[in-house]
Amino acid sequence: MTEQQHEPLRIAVLVSGSGSNLQAIMDAIAAATLDARITGVISDRPAVQALERATAADIPAITLDYRAMADRHAFGEALLSTLRQLEVQGVILAGFMRILPPAVVQGFHGRMLNVHPSLLPLYPGLHTYRRALEAGDAWHGSTVHFVTEELDAGPAIIQYRVRIRPGDSEDSLRQRVQRGEHLIYPLAIQWLASGHIELRDDGVWRAGQPAPTPEIIDEKE
Ligand code: GRF
Repeated sequence: MTEQQHEPLRIAVLVSGSGSNLQAIMDAIAAATLDARITGVISDRPAVQALERATAADIPAITLDYRAMADRHAFGEALLSTLRQLEVQGVILAGFMRILPPAVVQGFHGRMLNVHPSLLPLYPGLHTYRRALEAGDAWHGSTVHFVTEELDAGPAIIQYRVRIRPGDSEDSLRQRVQRGEHLIYPLAIQWLASGHIELRDDGVWRAGQPAPTPEIIDEKE
């Protein structure tokens, strides 16, 4: 591909809660370090803070109330139709707490990212801070990965690592890990927008080469 001026990547951000990662993404776009445009923020539950953040930034804030839908399939259909209306090229899961139906994941193969608060493949699923502390791990962190059908198992793009300190609690660890998420997530989305990374043969490719291990950024101590 030749170097050309191109349009910002059109993304939807899927949320369920506070939206601090959404905020970091919006801030990176405002600072022009991320060449993307959020065409909609979609929540699976009403009245969450992430929706307020979207509205404050003049971005369409859309609720698809999961509990009001017949089942996961119906939710998936509603979501796909909304994503089509928003004409999105990429889907960014940012604290989105539902497992998506296969049709949605397949529809955005290689164009859907998630951030998960562990050093995957360690600790897919919930309560990652507690599990890392209980295991006596030396490190914890967060991973941005391509979304595939298996939960929290898609190829990893970048990780942020923090060293677990004596006396760390779930809260103290969460705060430090989330600070890192706010750095690595906009960066990974920019890599997707620019074509620096892609999903090929079920693996991450970086700058046209297979990248079997993620980039790693360590917290400055
Ligand atoms: C993040 O820490 C992310 O790792 C996890 O959910 C949290 C969402 O936080 N998937 P926020 O809604 O972005 O503040």
